Amino acid sequence: MISQTKVLLGQTLSFNDNPLVNGLKNSYSHETNGMVVIKDGIITDVGSSDTIHSPKNATIVDYGQDLILAGFIDSHLHYPQTAIISSWGRRLIDWLNEYTFPEEERFFDHDYAIEIANRYFDIALSNGVTTSVSYGTTHPESVNAFFSVAKARGLRALTGKTCMDRNAPENLMDNALLAYEQSKALIQKWHKVDRLEYVITPRFAPTSSPEQLLALGALWKEYPDCLMQTHISEQIEEIEWVKKLFPQAKDYLDTYEASGLIGSRSLFGHAIHLNEREISRLTEIGSSIAHCPTSNTFIGSGLFDLSGLSDKGLNIGLATDIGGGSSFSMLRVMAAAYEIGQLRGDPMHPAHLLWLSTCGSAKALHLNHKIGNLVPGMEADIVVLDLKSTPEIKQRAERSNDIWDLIFPTIMMGDDRAVRDTWIAGEKWGLIN
Ligand code: GUN
Ligand code: ZN
Repeated sequence: MISQTKVLLGQTLSFNDNPLVNGLKNSYSHETNGMVVIKDGIITDVGSSDTIHSPKNATIVDYGQDLILAGFIDSHLHYPQTAIISSWGRRLIDWLNEYTFPEEERFFDHDYAIEIANRYFDIALSNGVTTSVSYGTTHPESVNAFFSVAKARGLRALTGKTCMDRNAPENLMDNALLAYEQSKALIQKWHKVDRLEYVITPRFAPTSSPEQLLALGALWKEYPDCLMQTHISEQIEEIEWVKKLFPQAKDYLDTYEASGLIGSRSLFGHAIHLNEREISRLTEIGSSIAHCPTSNTFIGSGLFDLSGLSDKGLNIGLATDIGGGSSFSMLRVMAAAYEIGQLRGDPMHPAHLLWLSTCGSAKALHLNHKIGNLVPGMEADIVVLDLKSTPEIKQRAERSNDIWDLIFPTIMMGDDRAVRDTWIAGEKWGLIN
């Protein structure tokens, strides 16, 4: 008989609290000789192997001194942009027109969408990303492809059809009614099927008419348990454009609020150049922000005020923003977040970075009761990191004097070579390499 109980041995790291808000001291639990017990895809026990007993008949996987933690959660990306990652030399609006929209036009073709969805998930899993929140394209095929590939792999995954009815190429545009109807049909087909969730997805105010935003606001009212994702205040030129397109709006956020598109389940990408009113309104409403540091530097958007917004009480997750971001690795994303903190005079502790890419992202998705932490009751979506994955990391790790000093070189210099294994709902993912 196949045993459904698994035991992972290694160093374990779990969070008890948000170290950004409540300080480091009691915020985490680390075991050098740790054990994780998994039963039927759920974590049932985590602690020291000296005190927990391994259940009878369990399959044991010994990771030695590798670090076992919750899988990374990428809270904002565009899987259809997988193939155009690292496209050179443009700022946001030109980058969208020159590189992004022509690639997204290809996703009317279900076979192409399936090919890219498979490629995206292969790369994400090899980087230890166990949950992704993606934008689709305007085509329902892009959503069908993403969800069918994620379902076949047993993943927890979220996406939505990207709605646009102006300032985009003709064959990437829908209209207010079509956006409403196609999104609704996709919700009915996919939302809460297995571990999948639909996200209502207007791309951003410049590519949606006020009528389309209103239609999507009405749809959200019908399906309030969906998340709503969009972009806000990423680049200065974009904000100026929004002012021209919405002359009556108080500010960028107001273009969404006027259409019923803000709430506790709204997830805004970027949010770099918010004004005071926008910050207090987002805080009041309990909204979340996806911080996309590799994208914000690659497209030249600006330096996100992570600690300022976190201190105000906003939920913040970390994200690659593929293909504006220049890496699929959440380690690279954490390194970029650290560097942006440094440029703002505010270096982040490795605990902050790991919390944001696991618990923080999960909280931003309202899924922190299911994923994002290595504690009993959570789904067993897990990443195992080799903390000595390259000679330069190894020599630095060997000089470390505590767990955080041991982890930090992997955060700063690591990539998919540091990902020993990725576990999905208690099953080890068969990595391609
Ligand atoms: N704003 C609107 N669409 C996009 C996109 O695809 N990527 C980024 N980075 N910003 C956007
Ligand atoms: Zn984006």
